[in-house]
Amino acid sequence: MTVAMLKLKKTDLTPRIGTEIRSDIETLLSGKYAADLRETLEQRGVLVFRGLDLTEDQQTAFAKTMGKLMLQGNKEVLSISLDKSVNGALADYLIGSFYWHIDMAMEDVPSRACFLVARKLSDTGGDTLFANTYAAWDDLPESEKKTLEKLRVVHTFENSQRVFKPIPTYAELKAWQEFKRPKVHPLVWTHQSGRKSLVLGTTASHVEGMSLEEGRLLLCKLQDWATQPQFVYGHKWNVGDLLVWDNTGTMHRAEPYPIDSGRLMTRATLEGEERVA
Ligand code: OGA
Ligand code: MN
Repeated sequence: MTVAMLKLKKTDLTPRIGTEIRSDIETLLSGKYAADLRETLEQRGVLVFRGLDLTEDQQTAFAKTMGKLMLQGNKEVLSISLDKSVNGALADYLIGSFYWHIDMAMEDVPSRACFLVARKLSDTGGDTLFANTYAAWDDLPESEKKTLEKLRVVHTFENSQRVFKPIPTYAELKAWQEFKRPKVHPLVWTHQSGRKSLVLGTTASHVEGMSLEEGRLLLCKLQDWATQPQFVYGHKWNVGDLLVWDNTGTMHRAEPYPIDSGRLMTRATLEGEERVA
């Protein structure tokens, strides 16, 4: 008698976010489960594949089964490291990843998803945390939702840079401001699916039509709300783990780790498919 082999097994890691997928490389690269995995990703925010040990080519091949691969500075795979000898000027910028953010939040169409593989780890810190911004929206009291839904938030590159350089020089501030113009996004993203999520993170500076104080206080409150333990999954990495996150329905951050720790991740990114609206 032959027993049908189960080629893909899913286990939810917390009630509101994160699902572990057990499968094999051949099955994943075949694309047979791509639609299923895309749906699970959208519902669960993060997919965890432990010890899959994909090569960079397999990492991009798998990403391509689930969407359109985005080039990152001409490369299909970007090295994520705080070491300047690996990443040059990007290394400084990546310190911003220690704080809750949405990748490409300054764009009309942020990236769809990221595929991150751990290559070398730090002895201390370096877990990656994800917060489900759909769940955070869903659980807000209905009375608050009505007012929040009308609000628009100004996102600035400057705001995201101040987290690691609170007092910039004039030249630095000018460079930040010239690099990206402020971007106004609705506080609440109504996706084409009809589901709604909060758009927050380090780029969120203030609220249109509110005093600076009042707007910042509100954003701070919502950020605290959205990153409560029930909405968060934190991943303790082993080398070879792959994490896929839905960049349109989660925020993420890395637990701080030493710059000279040698931590190295490789990242493949899928192009965005939907405007924040
Ligand atoms: C990223 C990112 C977090 C990490 O690659 O966009 O934020 O843990 N990475 O390296
Ligand atoms: Mn990031």
